[in-house]
Amino acid sequence: MGVQPVVRDAGRAEAEQRRGVRPGGEVSGEVVESTQHRVHTVVPSVRSRRSSRPALHAAGVAAPLPGILARLTPVAQAPVYPFGSDNGKIDRVTGSLFAVSDLHVSYAENRRIVDGLRPETADDWLIVAGDVGELFGAVEETLRQLRDRFATVVWVPGNHELWTHPSDPVTLRGRNRYDALVRMCRDNGVLTPEDDYPVWYGEGGPVTVAPLFQLYDYSFRAPGTSTKEESLRRAYDAGVVCTDEMLLHPDPYPDRESWCWARLAETERRLAATDPALPTVLVSHWPLVREPTDVLWYPEFAQWCGTERTADWHVRHRAVVAVYGHLHIPRTTHHDGVRFEEVSLGYPREWGRRGGEPKPMRRILGVAS
Ligand SMILES: [Fe+2]
Ligand SMILES: [Fe+2]
Repeated sequence: MGVQPVVRDAGRAEAEQRRGVRPGGEVSGEVVESTQHRVHTVVPSVRSRRSSRPALHAAGVAAPLPGILARLTPVAQAPVYPFGSDNGKIDRVTGSLFAVSDLHVSYAENRRIVDGLRPETADDWLIVAGDVGELFGAVEETLRQLRDRFATVVWVPGNHELWTHPSDPVTLRGRNRYDALVRMCRDNGVLTPEDDYPVWYGEGGPVTVAPLFQLYDYSFRAPGTSTKEESLRRAYDAGVVCTDEMLLHPDPYPDRESWCWARLAETERRLAATDPALPTVLVSHWPLVREPTDVLWYPEFAQWCGTERTADWHVRHRAVVAVYGHLHIPRTTHHDGVRFEEVSLGYPREWGRRGGEPKPMRRILGVAS
């Protein structure tokens, strides 16, 4: 990359970029106590697991392999539909399509909030737009907990799930780690970017709900720079370096942008095959357009937040809503007439500054019951 290892604490730098937004914007939080070598080391204890997966069993899906062996199995081709549907379509339902992201359950305060998340009706769906946590087991525990409550759970990976954290017994890297996460989700009846896109038939539907995994390619360059190398150098000089540089491995790709571009090609193919008569809800961890990053306190951080190559996806792929997280700046904006929802919970010190108990679930479609 042409740069030396981080000039100061990488974990702190990632957190510090979210200390707030520029004047006129929303204050989003402050520094969290983490370092490159002890990033989010507060690990929740493993709670008792509910082993039953009634929806899967009811749909006639074979019970998964137990434990880690199942996770290490290559991603199966046959998608799992927890609702036993035909090609992702289900009968019209009531209820709402909710979304949340950046639960960061390694923080006890966030774990408590997640424990309190409940649907309003039995038909509610929940989008989980990445950064559930860093440890494989904690991600599984959380998604299983949510799947037990919501009619359908749709997950996309965030950068934190893709980290190979030094304290995680699951040491998989890069694409193998992503494949294992997908397998784990399927074992638990959670939909992923690798499954057929489901259709929401409730209020505001029908719409195709498309979970995307597109990563980033450093094209949201730091101001005044024109190459990745310059942009990264600017970030290192400023001490604003995403922990991904140390923990998000691109294997087997040579670098993260190559993985990103492969994901974009595959995702474009999937999106092109969706029903052209239906609008979409596009779900990703990283924003599809750059504008939401304009309010970052540290503009150097934007290079880890997306890719210019998705700038028109919300238009080309008929989005009525684009859901994302990652920035830890929850808000609603509009781009080209399309509603964008940043649905992050964020770190305790961020949401704590906003006052009151956070209610991180955002209604994307549907009406209050
Ligand atoms: Fe996050
Ligand atoms: Fe993130």
